[in-house]
Amino acid sequence: MKGIVLAGGSGTRLHPVTRAVSKQLLPVYDKPMIYYPISVLMLAGIRDVLVISTPVDLPAFRRLLGDGSELGVEFSYAEQAAPNGLAEAFVIGAEHVGDDTAALVLGDNVFHGPGFSAILRQQVARIEREAGCALFGYPVSDPERYGVGEADDRGRLVSIEEKPARPRSNRAITGLYLYDNDVLDVARGLTPSARGELEITDVNRAYVERGDARLIDLGRGFAWLDTGTHDSLLEAGQYVQVLEHRQGVRCACLEEIALDQGWITPGQAYALGERQGKSGYGAYVMELATRAGRGFPPLRAVA
Ligand code: DAU
Repeated sequence: MKGIVLAGGSGTRLHPVTRAVSKQLLPVYDKPMIYYPISVLMLAGIRDVLVISTPVDLPAFRRLLGDGSELGVEFSYAEQAAPNGLAEAFVIGAEHVGDDTAALVLGDNVFHGPGFSAILRQQVARIEREAGCALFGYPVSDPERYGVGEADDRGRLVSIEEKPARPRSNRAITGLYLYDNDVLDVARGLTPSARGELEITDVNRAYVERGDARLIDLGRGFAWLDTGTHDSLLEAGQYVQVLEHRQGVRCACLEEIALDQGWITPGQAYALGERQGKSGYGAYVMELATRAGRGFPPLRAVA
């Protein structure tokens, strides 16, 4: 499966903070926001990732992430000239996906929860085996702000609406989408919505109509954090801070995931940590690498 991170948009709701800096590069506590969605793809076992952003912001993402080889993955980059909608990711990324299956994650979505990597790997395997799409639902108190899905008791999506005035359920559709290869044709065939965008909800509706869309419930013990306003961004950072201080492990540490997956050696991980050694993050990576090099079990096994 190929991965795409969509990290464009204008971030106007966070002005003036995002006037000169891309929203997805802002810190969520100790790391840039885009680390979180990238960690989701890496936990799903995806090593080939296309980062899409605006022509102005793309060089900064490239500076941050490089070609991925240091993490045993491959990052490539593409521009989205204007915010023409989430589904445009599959028009821009068609060549990257090729004849493979595809995962799209929004660059501002933060996920954290027990057993998430097992759920991800299970769903990736299922898409590769059975086709269709897998969406991830999360109960929220304000579903009218999101895509909203309704599923039957077997988890098959029966309806999906974008920001409905009268939501049929409290299940928000999160910004992580797994598809078979048909998504490229579906996205290519879309017409722009009333607000002039290629809507991801229209892509998902095509899968719902052919009875091929599954809704995976992330449930109440899970955290899907909002980063869309000044308050929610600060709260997301505080959530990560509390968790990391309490448990002594870091969320969305890309070096740790690459090490756990066996994509880099302890020696390579140590060198990556050393380069950032003056920060707590870098010291953490060095500690992990040292443990792994001595044959100690990881602080957090990939669940
Ligand atoms: O976060 C989940 C929600 O994301 C879903 O529940 C909705 O169904 C989906 O439409 C989307 O809703 P948003 O209101 O959050 O969409 P927004 O236009 O704010 O875009 C989400 C992110 O993607 C944002 O960080 C900007 C970026 N983006 C957006 C557009 C329209 C792009 O990179 N390119 C774009 O063309």
